Amino acid sequence: MNSKENRISEKEFSVQMKEKVSTIEQILVSYLPEQTGYQKIIMDAMEYSLMAGGKRLRPMLMMETYRLFADVKGIGKEDTSKVLHPFMAALEMIHTYSLVHDDLPAMDNDEYRRGRKTTHIVYGEDMGILAGDALLNYAFETAFRAFEKSPEDSLKIGRALAILGRKAGIYGMIGGQVIDVKETGHAISKDVLDTIYELKTGALIECAMMIGAVLGGAEDAEVQKVEKIAHYVGVAFQVQDDILDVTSTEEVLGKPIHSDEKNEKTTYVTLMGIEKAGEVVADLSGQAIELLHELPGENKFLEQLLVQLIHRDR
Ligand code: IPE
Ligand code: IPE
Ligand code: MG
Ligand code: MG
Ligand code: MG
Repeated sequence: MNSKENRISEKEFSVQMKEKVSTIEQILVSYLPEQTGYQKIIMDAMEYSLMAGGKRLRPMLMMETYRLFADVKGIGKEDTSKVLHPFMAALEMIHTYSLVHDDLPAMDNDEYRRGRKTTHIVYGEDMGILAGDALLNYAFETAFRAFEKSPEDSLKIGRALAILGRKAGIYGMIGGQVIDVKETGHAISKDVLDTIYELKTGALIECAMMIGAVLGGAEDAEVQKVEKIAHYVGVAFQVQDDILDVTSTEEVLGKPIHSDEKNEKTTYVTLMGIEKAGEVVADLSGQAIELLHELPGENKFLEQLLVQLIHRDR
């Protein structure tokens, strides 16, 4: 791990974090569809779910991984917005759709998300389903815009699109949600649980960091290492989510606590208890940081972000 003097102070980190979240939200707003036509209720529901207060972790990881590589691969700052921003927005749309659908009555049946009523509670279940569909489709419409903004980067954009599609799909997030739903209500092995975490949560975090790496000019071997780092980060992130479901409050989390117990989910907490689960989070994050040091370049903010995630309270 980084020596202390190498670290950004807590205060400086939190200032930078706020600035980055605000930058990401400006990007998101700029890519939202105009609210127009007889179908404008769906654009409204998309904005309602997307612009609620999420942590914006995935676009942030994408941006920071991009920075890590772009700086050493000689990619200028002026290129960033053309290829990176559409992908940052697209991924947050896909993540948000996964939450909108995850909260539906047929799934986790939760009524509170990102500090407000869930989309299906406000707009009805029909529009909740359609808002999720709309965000997923619009994510690809958004990512495709990178081609017109930067035709000279077509090869990299194509690779990034392939990652986006696969990590969001049946070999990624959707696959994980399928096993999660199917294996609800009965005991499951740690192996199955690990697969659920790797897919339902790990995949989009891998997607974030891998696309950042690809667009930042990383070599194939480097992208593979980034995938491994993100795998550790993603599983750790879900284990901490399980812990917070038991230890936090609805006000802090912005979503209901005890959702897992309500839905009879096996989690790391039910499997090994809060304390051991906490050790797993720290251990996995430590492995991620160790691997991060093997990559060229340095991004102190990214490293500190991974440390912060271990102790996050929301
Ligand atoms: C929630 O993700 C779903 C999980 C994968 C645990 P986040 O905790 O990143 O949710 P937001 O984006 O901050 O709302
Ligand atoms: C969901 O896991 C992960 C997704 C792909 C949406 P959870 O069901 O634990 O997420 P929360 O706790 O509702 O955010
Ligand atoms: Mg769920
Ligand atoms: Mg849920
Ligand atoms: Mg949860």
